[in-house]
Amino acid sequence: MFKNAHILLGVTGGIAAFKAVELCRRFQKAGAKVRVIMTQAACEFITPLTFETLTHQSVYTDVFDKARAFEIEHVSFAQWGDILVIAPATANMIAKMAAGLADDPLSTTVLAFRGPVVVAPAMNTAMWDNAKTRENLEALRGRGVRLVAPDVGMLACGDEGAGRLANLSDIVQAVTEELEAARQAGPLASKKILITAGPTIEKIDPVRFISNPSSGRMGYALAEEAAKRGAAVTLITGPVFLETSKHLAEVVRVETAEQMRDAVVAHLPEQNVCVFTAAVADFTPAEPIARKIKKEDLGQETVLKLKRAPDVAAAANAARQPGQFFVGFAAETNDLESYARDKMERKGFDLVVGNLVSEANPAFGVKDNEVTIFLPSGATVDLPRTSKKELAKYIWDQIQTQLS
Ligand code: CTP
Repeated sequence: MFKNAHILLGVTGGIAAFKAVELCRRFQKAGAKVRVIMTQAACEFITPLTFETLTHQSVYTDVFDKARAFEIEHVSFAQWGDILVIAPATANMIAKMAAGLADDPLSTTVLAFRGPVVVAPAMNTAMWDNAKTRENLEALRGRGVRLVAPDVGMLACGDEGAGRLANLSDIVQAVTEELEAARQAGPLASKKILITAGPTIEKIDPVRFISNPSSGRMGYALAEEAAKRGAAVTLITGPVFLETSKHLAEVVRVETAEQMRDAVVAHLPEQNVCVFTAAVADFTPAEPIARKIKKEDLGQETVLKLKRAPDVAAAANAARQPGQFFVGFAAETNDLESYARDKMERKGFDLVVGNLVSEANPAFGVKDNEVTIFLPSGATVDLPRTSKKELAKYIWDQIQTQLS
C-alpha cells in the first residue's frame, strides 16, 4: 500500500518527537516518499536537519520563510500529499485543528489538505484526560480524522498513565488502512481501465530491432494515478526501464506491436476506459531473419523492407463494446489541432491528449511535457508544462468529468 505513497508527516513539540524519526524511516522502508512539516516547538526537541538528511527534502518549518516566498508551501505540500500523519500530536495542535486555526506551517497545511488525516496524540495523562482535549478529539473524529490512541505507561514527566505515543506499528497500520480506504473510495473506484505504454520493438534479426525513444513515463504515471483513484488498472507495456506500481491489477509485458494488439484485444471486453499512450511502431520488418545477419553479406549499403505494423488502437476500436471510453495520444510537430481531431475521428477516440513536439518540448524520453486536451465537445484545454506525474492528475480530472 505504501509503494510510492506520498506521506506528509507533521511533527509537533513533545518529547515523543524523536520517535517521528523512526516513523519516517519505516514509511520510507515500505516504499513511501515522505515530506516533513515541523512546528517551532518540535524544532526545540529535534532539528529539521535530521529529517532533511533522511528525506532529502527541505522541512517546512516557517510560513514566512523569505527564501521560499515564491512558493505557497502549505498549499504545495497539501497538494503533494496522499495522506497527512501527525505524530506526535500535542494537545495544543489537536485544539488548533478542532478550532480550525491556521497559524503555523502544520495547522495551515491541515486546513489546505483534502486527503485522509491520521493523528497520533502524545501528552501528559492529565492533559489527555482533560475534558476539553476529549471534546476536541471527538470533534476531529467526527470530521473523519483517524485517531491512533496513545499507549499507557511511564511518561517522560514521571506520571504513569495514558499519553505515550502509540506503538509505531499501530500508526503504520492505521496509515495503511486509511490509504487503502481512500483508494477504494476514489473517483475511479468501480472502473476497469486498460493503458498501453512504452515503445514496441520490431525485430530485424535476433539481435537487432527498430524502436523509438518512448520512456513509458506518461503511461506509467497515468496507470499509477488511476490506481490511486481506485481503478482496477491493466497496464500493457512495451519494454521500458521503469518500475510498475504495486497497486495495478495486472501488468502484461509485450515487445512487438502485434503482441500489444493481441493483449489489448484479449483484455478489452471488461474495460470501461482504454488509454492508448504507447508509441507503437508503425512499421515492422517485412521479412524478419531468424539468424543474425552478417554485415559482410550486406555490403556497403542495404535496403530494409518494412510493412505496416498492426494499429493497436484501431484494432481495439474495431472490437469495441458499447459505452467504452477511449483516450488517444497525438504527438505532432505541426497542425496539432487538426491532426488530433482527425485521430479522434479515425480511431474512435473520445478524448485526445496532444503534444506539439519541438526542441523546447521533446515530449518523448523526458520527464516533463506540455499538452493540450481535445474534448469531445470540440473544446480544448491547455495544461501547464509540468511533470508527467502531475499531468496524469490533470488528465484523469478531465477524463472523470467526461465519464460523470
Ligand atoms: N497507436 C496505436 N497503434 C499504432 C499506432 C498508434 O495504438 N500502431 C495509438 C497511439 O498509442 C496513440 C494514437 O494511436 O494513442 C496515435 O495515432 P496515430 O494516428 O497512429 O498517430 P501516429 O502513430 O503518430 O501516426 P501518424 O501521425 O503518422 O498517422
